[in-house]
Amino acid sequence: MRPRPVRLERLPEQYFTWLLTRVAAARAESGEPLLDLGRGNPEVGPPPHVVDALAEAARDPRAHGYAPFRGLSRLREAIAARYATEYGVELDPEREVAVIPGTKTAIVELCLALAERGSTVVLPDPGYPDYPSGVAMAAAKLGTLPLDDGRPVWADAPREDVAALYLNYPSNPCAVCAPEGVFAEAVAYAGDTGAAVVHDFAYGDLVFDARPRESFLATPGAREVGVEMFSMSKTYGMAGWRLGFVVGNAEIVTRMDMLSNHGRAGIFAPLQEAAIAALSGPQDSVDERRDRYQARRDRVLEELPLEAVSEGTFYVWLALPPDLTVATLLKEARVALAPGEGFGSLGAGKARLSLAIDDETLDEGLERLAAACRELA
Ligand SMILES: Cc1ncc(COP(=O)(O)O)c(C=O)c1O
Repeated sequence: MRPRPVRLERLPEQYFTWLLTRVAAARAESGEPLLDLGRGNPEVGPPPHVVDALAEAARDPRAHGYAPFRGLSRLREAIAARYATEYGVELDPEREVAVIPGTKTAIVELCLALAERGSTVVLPDPGYPDYPSGVAMAAAKLGTLPLDDGRPVWADAPREDVAALYLNYPSNPCAVCAPEGVFAEAVAYAGDTGAAVVHDFAYGDLVFDARPRESFLATPGAREVGVEMFSMSKTYGMAGWRLGFVVGNAEIVTRMDMLSNHGRAGIFAPLQEAAIAALSGPQDSVDERRDRYQARRDRVLEELPLEAVSEGTFYVWLALPPDLTVATLLKEARVALAPGEGFGSLGAGKARLSLAIDDETLDEGLERLAAACRELA
């Protein structure tokens, strides 16, 4: 066999795989049971009517062949209807919706759909660690948009040959909602540079303290320059189902459908039926999920004597004092957090704590973290 192609060699280390390995190794060492507050995997699945819809659809003998490559038209209509009612955004389900197997796939494929070899894709720092993977696969150059408390420092953004700009609000890991005016600034940046904007809306429905849920596509001019990724994973607790959407700019949607036509053969129809049930049925589970995370967020802010931010998502972004590192906490307190530098160089000195864990683990984790803070103070 020949050596690995360069495009694979270029891939960065997968941060979450690294994190899981590190936590598993620490867990295997003797000592108190280790508490993992680092991983972001929804702890509660979708409401029962969604699982019922999957089971019922799977019982239909006609459900097991290839599904339409572009997704069921009723599914595209269901996401368009949800965008209209929840975010005040009208979408054409025929031209402006692509169905994809999870937004992680779209994160990579959008780079392939937008960037020429050698052009620049601009990513936020701190930002979601899977974004650089798409840039590497597309043989594009990685440019950085520094975030200051979650707000882009546009003066430092690259402006030459920029193929795409990725943004993510509510932000993983910064846990802030879109600061006022940021989406309009992104549209202006796209106008100036010719970049396409990709907005990652994975946590769009998980916003706290009655903040508005803001789609990028509600901004004037957004649909002309970009798309938004909507995920079923966080809003409905369907992370393992692998289902999401790319919505907005019709040309980019067409390109995503092209990649889908050539690389996949549709998504299992019963999964799509269940997604229709989730998007169109009762939405109380979405409110309950958000309220549960908000209550946990309140406990974290109350109990930890650390600078902490969490306006949305299911994370708290913590500033650690210099002598309290994630490695020390893992070793001494047996609590795992996600180290901030894994989200970019500007994440150094920070850590991400997950709220997507059961209350008992969170309470015990908070006790241990608070004790470690007191000892080091
Ligand atoms: C910011 C962000 N975008 C995208 C994803 C991927 O979500 P999906 O399950 O739709 O692939 C995640 C998952 O953790 C995320 O945190």
